[in-house]
Amino acid sequence: RDSMAEEAKKLAGCAAVDNHVQNNHVVGVGSGSTIVYAVDRLAERVRQEKLNIVCVPTSFQARQLILKHGLILSDLDRHPELDVAIDGADEVDAALTLIKGGGGCLTQEKIVAGCAKHFIVIADFRKDSMALGQQWKGGVPIEVIPMSYVPVSRTIAKRFGGKAVLRMAVNKAGPVVTDNSNFILDWKFEHAQNWKVVNTAIKMIPGVVETGLFVGMAERVYFGMEDGTV
Ligand code: A5P
Repeated sequence: RDSMAEEAKKLAGCAAVDNHVQNNHVVGVGSGSTIVYAVDRLAERVRQEKLNIVCVPTSFQARQLILKHGLILSDLDRHPELDVAIDGADEVDAALTLIKGGGGCLTQEKIVAGCAKHFIVIADFRKDSMALGQQWKGGVPIEVIPMSYVPVSRTIAKRFGGKAVLRMAVNKAGPVVTDNSNFILDWKFEHAQNWKVVNTAIKMIPGVVETGLFVGMAERVYFGMEDGTV
């Protein structure tokens, strides 16, 4: 199933690049393991078709990917309007609401997606869900200012239920630190919610920088399937 998932990520990544990237586009490059296949395909097309493409990264990882492939690196200062942004997701529900940030990069991802005319999501079949929480068990990632993590965590639990736990680093004694030098709370919610309302309410808590809930942003989601279709 794992090798099938890798193949599925590749199929989704290639489909998104082939269907949505054209010459002279400014492209937002997402983060995670699925976007790697999309950037491979993008670099291949740039070489073969001699395309003029400018890339805006959503993370340290995306920046490295762009540089590694010799693609043109830009930023929102120079390119505040993107033609398309392509990114992965941890889970996608029937309304195309996303959970993102499993890899810790949600804030820059949401900023870049918000600057794009079209926000296209790529994922393997394991991310396809009827309701958030049915597939992805990591909860909703929430980026917070470090000194606020205890009060924010308590407020979320009190108001919306469940538990918001500080994400700890794996090869370090201490918390995960984001590309923006913040912490991440993973909110393990207990039941389905009105995600639009909850997203706005959580953002209003002092100390919250951004949530991993992407509501009403994805225009289209490409799922690579187990049978090799997209
Ligand atoms: C990064 O923090 C995330 O938002 C990713 O976009 C998301 O976790 C998808 O990653 P994969 O493509 O590795 O599943």
